[in-house]
Amino acid sequence: MLTKLLHNALKQAQLLSGVRNTLSLWSHKTSVRACAARSATFQSLEDGLELNYGGAPMRFNYVWLRDHCRSASSYNSSTNQRNLDTASIDLTIRPDITTVEDGHLILTWPGGHVSKYSLSWLAENSYEGKKQSTIQPRIFWNSDIYKNANIPSAKWDTFMSCDDEVKKFLQNYLLYGIAFVDDVPATVEATEAVTQRVSLIRETTYGRMWCFTSDLSRGDTAYSQLGLDRHTDTSYFHEPCGIQVFHCLKHEGTGGRNLLVDGFYAAETVRQQSPENFELLARSPIRHEYIESSDNHQNHMTGFGPLINVYPWNNEMYLIRYNNYDRSVINTIPHDLVQPWYVAHRELTKELRRPENELWVKLTPGKVIFIDNWRVMHGRESFTGLRQLCGCYLTRDDVLSSARCFGLHA
Ligand SMILES: [Fe+2]
Repeated sequence: MLTKLLHNALKQAQLLSGVRNTLSLWSHKTSVRACAARSATFQSLEDGLELNYGGAPMRFNYVWLRDHCRSASSYNSSTNQRNLDTASIDLTIRPDITTVEDGHLILTWPGGHVSKYSLSWLAENSYEGKKQSTIQPRIFWNSDIYKNANIPSAKWDTFMSCDDEVKKFLQNYLLYGIAFVDDVPATVEATEAVTQRVSLIRETTYGRMWCFTSDLSRGDTAYSQLGLDRHTDTSYFHEPCGIQVFHCLKHEGTGGRNLLVDGFYAAETVRQQSPENFELLARSPIRHEYIESSDNHQNHMTGFGPLINVYPWNNEMYLIRYNNYDRSVINTIPHDLVQPWYVAHRELTKELRRPENELWVKLTPGKVIFIDNWRVMHGRESFTGLRQLCGCYLTRDDVLSSARCFGLHA
């Protein structure tokens, strides 16, 4: 943990130094005006403004500033939509007058239009600020970290009647990528109801709510009694399903525990150990594929994308695709990167397979689990006897929207 804190501190320092270096390149300013107001100063540059506010230097392009004007004619604050036609902005636009007053940057443009931006809004929406903040705060975990956190499960009764319980549940889900609801009646209908407290169900080729046993009714190993190695689902979609919901309605037999592994914890370890391997996995597009041909089901789906996906402005991970069953032919990376890619894939696999990173859970009737399918891998051990599972997928956008509407950082 200490190593991680140090790493984060170092990363912050590197980001700050990166910002400083970038700013030093902006010394080709054509005119310099400085104005102090509430600890804010600005300098007019050739194509924008450098604003120092609260000790943090930020840069704003003039076209960007005109485009982000929040005046009534430029922006509809009732619908939170832009009125201004961006294509109508002169790409060489510069303000005639620039001032900082009462916590606001005020620009008067040629023609007389006035734009006013609060300094706090600018700080919050600057590239420099975004670069140093995370889109979704998370706690990466191995088995010990998760168990020691003692995250309580939500309870069916309160979950179905109290919004605060859903909010707490979502907060845990956002941080850890898994969350549980207990005491749910062991039926498909109750599972659907508990799911809909969170968000919209995503219908796929498997249906809206699916219910399966080991009857091999579909052309997928999931419909057998075999063990399944850790993987993410629907990696063959260009947008893999956001959340997986599982509820074990019945099991008369042995085995069948579920395995959970935090893919981001393993990938972050790779990033710290071998940044070049992490980078390769993050920029090499790989194809996943699902082909099913039976009397009742004809499907052929493919999806392209790197194993690890990061936001380019801050390198924060947001999606991992890892499914060795469904990974298709590799023919989307140049020959000289094929061997290095396998080396990187091996390192990630090694981390994912460390026993200390595995969280084993016995799903019993009544316990519903929500899994972030963009982050946490699932698998299972082989089993005997009749095991009946139901569940569904949720759309990620809608779950995150629910979380934001509760005021959560997502
Ligand atoms: Fe799966």
